[in-house]
Amino acid sequence: MSSLNEKLAAALSSREKRHIRRRLPVSTSAVHPSTDFTSNDYLSLATSLTLRAAFQSALSAAPQILGSGGSRLLVPTPLHAALENRLEIFFGAEKALLFNSGFDANVAFFSAIPQPGDVVLYDEHIHASVHDGMATSRIDPSSRIKFPHNSVAALKRSLRKLLHEQDDLRDGKASAFVAVESLYSMDGTFAPLHEIVQCVEEMLPRGNGYVIVDEAHATGIYGPQGRGMVAALGLEGRVLARLHTFGKALAGSGAAILTTELIRDYLLNYARPLIYTTALTYANVIGVGCAFDTLENGSAEVIYQDISWIF
Ligand SMILES: Cc1ncc(COP(=O)(O)O)c(C=O)c1O
Repeated sequence: MSSLNEKLAAALSSREKRHIRRRLPVSTSAVHPSTDFTSNDYLSLATSLTLRAAFQSALSAAPQILGSGGSRLLVPTPLHAALENRLEIFFGAEKALLFNSGFDANVAFFSAIPQPGDVVLYDEHIHASVHDGMATSRIDPSSRIKFPHNSVAALKRSLRKLLHEQDDLRDGKASAFVAVESLYSMDGTFAPLHEIVQCVEEMLPRGNGYVIVDEAHATGIYGPQGRGMVAALGLEGRVLARLHTFGKALAGSGAAILTTELIRDYLLNYARPLIYTTALTYANVIGVGCAFDTLENGSAEVIYQDISWIF
């Protein structure tokens, strides 16, 4: 065995011994199980005949459904722009920007937006993509600070310490970003979003504290017509950015960051996971549009009620 293969095999065998070796799951049955405890298809939209029919009819009517032709930065993508426009209105946001996945969106945001000298405080249960974004950002590794899950008291302590130590943060010349999820899927806990926003506003009265909320697991489920927890709590104007993903309750793939015009513009210029990749296919954008139709016209709720007897 080559030295490379030996090293790779040893790492896999070590995972095997620790019972953490990952494998692709295989289906044990040809038919869909009646009870689904593993997927993120929270509203059963992926198996909805109503959505399937709407999607097929929208595909038939669309001028273009295959591919997208390249990066958003290279080819005009009016359909993508129209979806962004729609999301801005639906979510009550200044601007929306599409990404090929929620993973890409988090990597893009956290690698590009925090500037040298800034700090990012993150909940200890934050998604891996936020870690990957921070790791490729220009902030110092010591400025990525974890706080215990959902602890506003600990967040406040960390901010107080940073403000004591860092003149630039105190003077408003540097920024503090706070990264949380609205709903943590692994243990089913909600972030105390209102308290987190209030804490950041009180600790950083110069306005240089920014909350970023990952709504991946709340999208389509919580808030008015599935707009998420930020909307449910009326915090739209008090968070810097929200992430909504399409791959879970919305039966598609891709994601959108809702944020300010300036941040969107900056991401278009500096976010590598957006610049150097082929945009979502037209079919995907059309499918996401159909899923949002079900949220807006209420049929998503009907589909959900159809299967709610399972619970
Ligand atoms: C909290 C959270 N953020 C981001 C992502 C990434 O989203 P996507 O699956 O669209 O890449 C996921 C899920 O995978 C997630 O659970």
